[in-house]
Amino acid sequence: MKDTFTNRIEEGMDNLFKHGAFFTAGDEDKANTMTVSWGSVGFMWKKPVFMALIRQTRYTKELLDKGNEFTISIPYGNEMKKALGICGSKSGRDIDKEEVADIEFINAKKVSTPVVAGCNKYYECKVVFKQDMDLDNVFEEVKAKCYQDGETKHTLYFGEIVEQY
Ligand SMILES: Cc1cc2nc3c(=O)[nH]c(=O)nc-3n(C[C@H](O)[C@H](O)[C@H](O)COP(=O)(O)O)c2cc1C
Repeated sequence: MKDTFTNRIEEGMDNLFKHGAFFTAGDEDKANTMTVSWGSVGFMWKKPVFMALIRQTRYTKELLDKGNEFTISIPYGNEMKKALGICGSKSGRDIDKEEVADIEFINAKKVSTPVVAGCNKYYECKVVFKQDMDLDNVFEEVKAKCYQDGETKHTLYFGEIVEQY
């Protein structure tokens, strides 16, 4: 298979969906990461854009709304399964994920939010649009499955991909 832009995006997104990826917000002073496995890459307003769905209760969201930048770090295969498990079940409100999940934040190239070392694919993004979900516009089947009573909604974050490698 040719190493085209599209193929590299597909490989990254396939791994994100199957195994999860690190969604990081914050900066050099205070960063936090959480596991995500939903998202998409596409083009809007002539810009390459990564869209992620972040539930409103996530600690990561607090840092995201302050800095308006995020990074996606995608490990391929099962290599970082344990770390993804911890970052996807514990909150940065309660633990230091770098220490407990044994991961390392390293500087990104174009944004102040760090990336997680040792991954295979990275996106660095600046938020260009965000939108709280309006549950009135969500189809019943999805609502019943993902937004039962008491479950918080997602906010959709669209980040311009300013760097990827
Ligand atoms: C495989 C996997 C995928 C996940 N995907 C998402 C997601 O796309 N959006 C989301 O809001 N939470 C998702 N989560 C849940 C968060 O990662 C989890 O609630 C995390 O503990 C939040 O951390 P925080 O409070 O430090 O932000 C996922 C969890 C796992 C295990």
